[in-house]
Amino acid sequence: MEKAIPKVTLNDGTTLPVIGLGTYGLWGNAGANAVSSGINAGYRLIDTAYNYENEGAVGEGIRRSGISREELWVTSKLPGRYHTYEKALVAIQESLYRSQLDYFDLYLIHWPMPNQDTYVEAWQALIDAQKWGLVRSIGVSNFLPEHLERIIHETGVTPSLNQVELHPFFNQAHQRKVHVDHGIQTQSWSPIAKAKDILINDAIKTIAEAHNKTIAQVVLRWQYQIGSVSIPRSTSPERQRENLSIFDFELSESEMIAISELSRSDGRLFDMDPATHEEF
Ligand SMILES: NC(=O)c1ccc[n+]([C@@H]2O[C@H](COP(=O)([O-])OP(=O)(O)OC[C@H]3O[C@@H](n4cnc5c(N)ncnc54)[C@H](OP(=O)(O)O)[C@@H]3O)[C@@H](O)[C@H]2O)c1
Repeated sequence: MEKAIPKVTLNDGTTLPVIGLGTYGLWGNAGANAVSSGINAGYRLIDTAYNYENEGAVGEGIRRSGISREELWVTSKLPGRYHTYEKALVAIQESLYRSQLDYFDLYLIHWPMPNQDTYVEAWQALIDAQKWGLVRSIGVSNFLPEHLERIIHETGVTPSLNQVELHPFFNQAHQRKVHVDHGIQTQSWSPIAKAKDILINDAIKTIAEAHNKTIAQVVLRWQYQIGSVSIPRSTSPERQRENLSIFDFELSESEMIAISELSRSDGRLFDMDPATHEEF
């Protein structure tokens, strides 16, 4: 029997499991089955986005799982093409219709796209969507410190969470400190760096062998111990369970440092710098 998944409390009082299931690329019937098997493996937090074109499969997977809606946390995200106030509110409603859910637990602005200069307006729409009950908690994704500071300054509302690229090759130490200073929860996307080079990393392999765990488990445990909520994606029921089995061991301080030291300033997987990256 796996240990229960701990939860964090966000700055608006809502809680969130410390690990969830990523769903990018989980489409159609197979996608719905992967979401359902993840929920049955124990995941309670599910991460989707309007632009993943799978909010329908996620909603279907939730229904197939047989677990009641109240026991789940579902996140979706606003695409860049809907950053104006009216379009953002319509997009949130469309996300709900697609997933056939009555509310999201968390809704995020997917990318700030600062060159468009519309993310403050989008943030105002999320603030109102929360007031109207469409969304329980509101946050952002890929926001650099200057984007966070601007929305806080211009609206007076601090995001509950910022979902950013974060893995041992890009550990986001400075960004995480900014989050702590503002009371914003850090969430990691591509938390196991897409399971490529990392799976043959000697430093992590040594640590994994010492704990009789896999490299993915050690990296996800590292994510937990740095205080970030991670959302690993897997289509395989076996790997979904493997990725949840991280609460029965602990990394020492020196092991944590050894993993954190793998980070490089150019360690982003696809050079997606939020200062310039645009996704509509
Ligand atoms: N906000 C954003 O801009 C943003 C950007 C990217 C991603 N995301 C979110 O973050 C989620 C996770 O990121 P990601 O999908 O890019 O990468 P990831 O979770 O780091 O890695 C996913 C890959 O790892 C494999 N994998 C999973 N568990 C494994 C294990 N235990 N051993 C070996 N391989 C394993 C999966 O293959 P199998 O399926 O075969 O197991 C898949 O190919 C996404 O699904 C999405 O929800 C958000």
